[in-house]
Amino acid sequence: MSARDIQLDDQGRLRHFLTIEGLSREILTEILDYAENFTTVGHQPVKKVPLLRGRTIINLFFEVSTRTRTTFELAAKRLSADVLNINISASSTAKGESLLDMLRNLEAMHCDMFVVRHASPGAAHFIARHVAPHVSVINGGDGSHAHPTQAMLDMFTIRRHKGDFTRLSVAIVGDIMHSRVARSQIHALNILGVPDVRVVGPETLIPVEAPQLGVHVYHDLAEGLDGVDVVIMLRLQRERMSRALLPSEHEYFQCYGLTPEKLARARPDAIVMHPGPINRGVEMDSAVADGPQSVILEQVTNGIAVRMAIMAMTLGRAGGEA
Ligand code: CP
Repeated sequence: MSARDIQLDDQGRLRHFLTIEGLSREILTEILDYAENFTTVGHQPVKKVPLLRGRTIINLFFEVSTRTRTTFELAAKRLSADVLNINISASSTAKGESLLDMLRNLEAMHCDMFVVRHASPGAAHFIARHVAPHVSVINGGDGSHAHPTQAMLDMFTIRRHKGDFTRLSVAIVGDIMHSRVARSQIHALNILGVPDVRVVGPETLIPVEAPQLGVHVYHDLAEGLDGVDVVIMLRLQRERMSRALLPSEHEYFQCYGLTPEKLARARPDAIVMHPGPINRGVEMDSAVADGPQSVILEQVTNGIAVRMAIMAMTLGRAGGEA
């Protein structure tokens, strides 16, 4: 069974959130609309709503993370759930326990959700196929395959600044080849009706099948940025490169690094995004990262509301007011 087949229950509601691919515009819009309810929770004196009181959520991060793990934990706590962060290096997998045995033991503690980050594509899907019927799984990033909650917080940020998706030009710049974020963003932008999705980068970092994903390919940064509304910069994913695909970071920055001069090719009101972590001086200049068009830290803040919405929806509590 594919990831998209097991994501929905018999009534077409989200049970797991593993990939954007195959989801409808209605479901993505429902997530974005529902997340709007949660944006004010962080400004309240008591930063909590009771939607998931009594539920237990376990963060299983087999790969490093700052933003995703922390915002999932905050989101769960703001929904009043109990949250456990498993320290994988200190868990019994280090003594040879299999992933499935670890899951069975955690399920025996009556948990309701696993949030999973793993270096292997398909890991969250594998776990979703093996959990008990009442347990939901959310993919926090699996290898170079998918990072669906990142894509949704990016869509939320774009909608807040630009409104209607159906009039936008969006350029995704950098290491498309190894980026789970780019793959999920491309699916989300296409499903939400963005007519002009561009990928920009050297030939070695753009997969040959990119045009079949519904994007226009550019190898020249100035051409790729010409007139766009949204610029999404990506990190070079060196940890996933099996061979040298670039001459040097210095030369990469000369060709593809975003500077204020290069950004001037985009629309004057274009926003600049980056999923983080940023490598300043490699994919972007600090003058852009910290400049007036940057919404990078807004993306992080929006991640809490969007992850609250996805957790509440998958655990079957959507529809209530936050
Ligand atoms: N954007 C993102 O996934 O960041 P982390 O690796 O810090 O979670």
